Amino acid sequence: MVWIKKDLLGLEELTKEEIEFILTTAESFKEVTTREIKKVPALRGKTVVNLFYEPSTRTRVSFEVAAKRLSADVINIAPETSSVRKGETLIDTGRNIEALKADIIVVRHNASGAASMLARHLSISVVNAGDGWHEHPTQALLDIFTLKEKLGKIEGLNVVIVGDISHSRVARSNIRGLTKLGAKVIVCAPEILIPPAIEEMGVEVTDDIDEALKDADAVNVLRMQFERDEEAAFPEKLEYFRNFGITPERLKKAKKNIIVMHPGPINRGIEMSSEVADGINSVILEQVTNGIAVRMAVLFLVAQAQDKLAVRG
Ligand code: CP
Repeated sequence: MVWIKKDLLGLEELTKEEIEFILTTAESFKEVTTREIKKVPALRGKTVVNLFYEPSTRTRVSFEVAAKRLSADVINIAPETSSVRKGETLIDTGRNIEALKADIIVVRHNASGAASMLARHLSISVVNAGDGWHEHPTQALLDIFTLKEKLGKIEGLNVVIVGDISHSRVARSNIRGLTKLGAKVIVCAPEILIPPAIEEMGVEVTDDIDEALKDADAVNVLRMQFERDEEAAFPEKLEYFRNFGITPERLKKAKKNIIVMHPGPINRGIEMSSEVADGINSVILEQVTNGIAVRMAVLFLVAQAQDKLAVRG
């Protein structure tokens, strides 16, 4: 396959073949990350700007490590120490970064559609590192990469996504990616955290976590995003943990080798117990490690597409 997309904005606009191509590219970059010198010259001379309007540990550091392993120069912009504080718009900030001759902007923003809007106004590449409740494509790609690495395939798997589906860009990107690759997805949450018409995305819906876990090959446990809407009627934390929290007792009734995932950061004792988070079924830190290879693949592919577009004029 020849990759021709200069941006990665979401899994909605990718075909099954394109998702598989990113995963295959990530496999070869994973090999690079195991070498003594974990660096290749693929993006030498390119500049990657991390523009994060929301807090992040995993995604921002992972993109920085990925870019550096590809030999790119990396600049991190935090809105609190930039001209965003003086009222500069996202598009003006993006245009100025373009004028400074950066090649790729990795953007995280609390507004759904922010990455797409930026991409429409710029000719350099834009990679979505999470936009509002809309998509978090590289998180879903690293989740799917980890599942495939652990279970050998995606097609035919039963994957449960439990938690705050309404506010979750991770859930939306995972649903889009997993269903395109042929997995069966069940979303599980109290009714208040299930968005309307979610079934139209090709998933089953339940509020019974024990039933959902019975045939599950993997459970992806979402974070309760208490910071997103203080007024929202989130379930009471202990009640949520009692009814939906992933515990060793619940896992005993599931498949022995069920994979437990979480995008992080974890609210221990609310979404899952510490025994599960740190237990033998958990691949949470492996997800983080795999994020580097997946993001190397994404940065490499969008930069390649950018170069091809430049040649075509
Ligand atoms: N999974 C994820 O997006 O984590 P961060 O918010 O730390 O980047």
